[in-house]
Amino acid sequence: MQFKTLAAAGAVTLMALSLTACGGSGTGNGGGSAGTTLTIAFNQNAEHPQAQAMTQAGAALEEATGGAYGLEVFPDELLGAQDETLEQVRSGTIDMAVVAGSVLEGINPDISVINLPYLYSSAEQQVSVLNDDAIVGELFDTLNADNLEVLAVYHAGARSLYTTDGPVTTPEDLAGQRIRVIESDTNITMMQLMGGVGAPMDMGEVYTAIQSGVLDGAENNELVYSNMAHAEVAPYFSETRHLMLPDLLVINTGVLDAMDDESEAALREAVAASVDTEVELFATAVEEARTAAEEAGATFSEPDVEAFRAAVLPLHDEVVTSDSARAVYDAITAAAE
Ligand code: GCU
Repeated sequence: MQFKTLAAAGAVTLMALSLTACGGSGTGNGGGSAGTTLTIAFNQNAEHPQAQAMTQAGAALEEATGGAYGLEVFPDELLGAQDETLEQVRSGTIDMAVVAGSVLEGINPDISVINLPYLYSSAEQQVSVLNDDAIVGELFDTLNADNLEVLAVYHAGARSLYTTDGPVTTPEDLAGQRIRVIESDTNITMMQLMGGVGAPMDMGEVYTAIQSGVLDGAENNELVYSNMAHAEVAPYFSETRHLMLPDLLVINTGVLDAMDDESEAALREAVAASVDTEVELFATAVEEARTAAEEAGATFSEPDVEAFRAAVLPLHDEVVTSDSARAVYDAITAAAE
């Protein structure tokens, strides 16, 4: 643990030095060519479907631009937790980051319309509506004032509950249980409606907090559950599948402005193509994660999903307050399969 923290701190220092030296972007495409490598901060491991899809996009970008541009993913929170890396993209210290939709609610509360429980009907429907400019273009453009642009939206699984003290079947079972959520008002209210107490925290702190009893559990997809070893400390995974929370790949607008038109188009195309690849990889990764979690001692169970859905649905009307958020909401639900 301590070693990892020190290593991460060292990497951040090194990055900061090299970024200062290069004026915003690292240079050199691994192979030693004189191109510009755009850095992407990522909080999960290098095998994660999003990391793989972005690495593939980087290869396509290098090829399309003759090595003028490439991408480099910095995994495992090496550049910081998501809220920190979003700040760095905003200020231009790093070029890009993947952040959960909830993290952007602090900039524009209307973004919460894409982060609602029981909203999407499938991974395919989700990425199709959230990568459709006609549906989310205006909403995402509100981030431009903060030097941010959404380049692509990735699927990030369906989140379920996992706890230390037996499976959860109904909202009543969650009474008094402290469950970690990503920091946002929407998530805190969501957990309250689901019957528990939402405890906002960065993902990297969750394992220790469960282990030490500060938390009774958390909610996340199977990948985090297995890869971050949460299955070891909270072995009861109750498949509420309550939240398909999207992950957004954001870029500093200055980086785009500095690119020539052709390279910018190549970047957009490469990233857009990676969205479907990621959905496919995610499905396989979920199966592998379930098996690994079971091997680590986890039990998966089916709760009363309808009871959770009914409990949490009032959140939709609570969050969708502006006309613009309503338009996005209506378009998303109209596209449900
Ligand atoms: C998911 C999501 C991440 C997020 C994490 C979390 O894994 O893909 O973007 O950071 O959950 O719960 O913090």
